[in-house]
Amino acid sequence: MWKKLRKYGRVVNALIGFLYDFKRFYLYSAWKADMQNKEIRNYHMVKVYHSLEKSLSFKRRNKESGWSTAKMVLELIKIADSTNDYGFHDKAGLSVLKKFINHPDNTGHEHAQKIKQEIKNLHWSSDDAHGTKHYKDNDLLRGKLINPEAFFLSRYSLREFKQEKVEALQIERAISLAMKTPSVCNRQAWHVYHSDNQESIRKALSYQQGNRGFGDEVPNLMIITSDLKAFMPGQEHYQHWIDGGLFSMSLIYAFHSLGIVSCCLNWSQSPSNDLKLRSTFNIRPNDTVIMMLAFGYPDKDNNVCVSARRPLEEIYTKLEMKDKAYS
Ligand SMILES: Cc1cc2nc3c(=O)[nH]c(=O)nc-3n(C[C@H](O)[C@H](O)[C@H](O)COP(=O)(O)O)c2cc1C
Repeated sequence: MWKKLRKYGRVVNALIGFLYDFKRFYLYSAWKADMQNKEIRNYHMVKVYHSLEKSLSFKRRNKESGWSTAKMVLELIKIADSTNDYGFHDKAGLSVLKKFINHPDNTGHEHAQKIKQEIKNLHWSSDDAHGTKHYKDNDLLRGKLINPEAFFLSRYSLREFKQEKVEALQIERAISLAMKTPSVCNRQAWHVYHSDNQESIRKALSYQQGNRGFGDEVPNLMIITSDLKAFMPGQEHYQHWIDGGLFSMSLIYAFHSLGIVSCCLNWSQSPSNDLKLRSTFNIRPNDTVIMMLAFGYPDKDNNVCVSARRPLEEIYTKLEMKDKAYS
């Protein structure tokens, strides 16, 4: 009887979790499409202008395509201009639009002429590189490792660290490297909260259930989050977990490449724990916590868990059509 009740209790817990996630999505995601809101507009801007970047990058281009997207970028640019408060992607959007209408394939097009007129007095585009970039031959293969096994197989979750703070420069470097993580439409909806203050770390870890036995000695901690403002309900309600997870993994490998060890700390938490963390720290309400990350330098001698990997055949299946009639 109790066993059965406990089983259904888990389903009720799942439902409470879903409802909590739904409430947060309702409150903070972009479903109202309020383009006056700078952050929401900037996420939308990159989603739209990135289509123009893709169009510009194709070797086989259709000169008639991309114009409706260009007009959407133009509309967003006009809104940004009217607010007189431009974000990174507002500026990038204007730069990409200029690139698009000035591309040799497009510049003579009637739409290009009209757009040129509309933006001729806007001078706030970005100085950064935008649009497309040409790489020759093996340039894209510069990252190929001579010994990938040495890199990948030497990463372990380490839970006991040297009692040393990681320098700000190293942290910034790791985050910058991780920023190269792919994200949906290049939205980069990540945020990193970091502390090397013992009191803050202990308090944050008091809400997390996977640090027993080592949480007291964690010298550096991050809370990695994804911004719900970047996402629309419907198809995108899980996207922030995915993009946040990818970013987290990149950060772990970036640290690894710099000689800094880490341990992910799950944030598969109850709504009440999530709320407790939020009531204690300056985490923006629109940020969903993906995970915590303990990190630091290794001691001279370290013990790690083997954490054996499953055999490949258990996780690999060749994708095949079920019904030949579809092929
Ligand atoms: C999302 C995520 C959450 C994790 N949470 C915890 C945790 O709360 N406590 C912990 O000690 N390890 C945690 N880990 C570490 C895993 O136990 C570890 O990655 C796994 O055993 C594989 O070992 P390795 O990282 O050494 O290869 C977590 C890992 C991931 C990816």
